[in-house]
Amino acid sequence: MQAGARRVVVAIDGPAGAGKSTIARRVAQRLGFTYIDTGAMYRAVALWALRQGVDSSDHHRTEQLAMAAEIELAPGRICLNGEDVTEAIRTPEVTSGASKIAVIPGVRRAMVAKQREIGERASVVMEGRDIGTAVFPKADVKIYLDADPAERVRRRLKEEIAKGAAVSADAVAREMKERDQRDSTRADAPLAQAPDAVYVDSTGLNVDEVEEAVLKIVRLKITNGKGFH
Ligand code: DC
Repeated sequence: MQAGARRVVVAIDGPAGAGKSTIARRVAQRLGFTYIDTGAMYRAVALWALRQGVDSSDHHRTEQLAMAAEIELAPGRICLNGEDVTEAIRTPEVTSGASKIAVIPGVRRAMVAKQREIGERASVVMEGRDIGTAVFPKADVKIYLDADPAERVRRRLKEEIAKGAAVSADAVAREMKERDQRDSTRADAPLAQAPDAVYVDSTGLNVDEVEEAVLKIVRLKITNGKGFH
């Protein structure tokens, strides 16, 4: 599939552990589009704030960091102010910190501006919480990827164990519930399904099946005269 003369935006939103990153990365690869993990951008700001000792209740200073942050995304890597922070942004402290700083409107403004800039340069598969609702409300394709909470916990636990982390299912479930609650109830651009997003429930499906389901939706939307001329 070729994007032709026009750029295409595929937006994938959903809660933690629904499989957004894996699916978005694979779909982008299949389409030859750029994959953008917007959660990694919030994580990079959270990491910087933690390192600077800036508390997430200090909205002004956190916003200043978000505006000053030089974030570069390369395939599979993320750099913050020239430093590769790909692994550093995956700790539990940063995970929780990212959700906390993401409630700050000024932080969101800075991230959204960077995300729009990227989407204006290339065809993208962008995943996060507010891509179809706030970042690209006119995205060509919007997917809301979900799975039932027990399955999301199982997947996250498996990932953590694979990384060698000593965590319990209870701890993962608690952390995930708290984060989903915060992400979906904040005042500014909360996690929500856009009215025109296609709901995909990945519960009980394997990665290949979800990838195919998403690609099918993308192809249907795009060949509906809306893209790929
Ligand atoms: O996708 P993730 O788990 O890496 O995201 C980390 C946090 O960043 C998430 O809990 C909420 C925030 N986030 C957001 O508010 N908006 C996005 N588009 C992406 C992530």
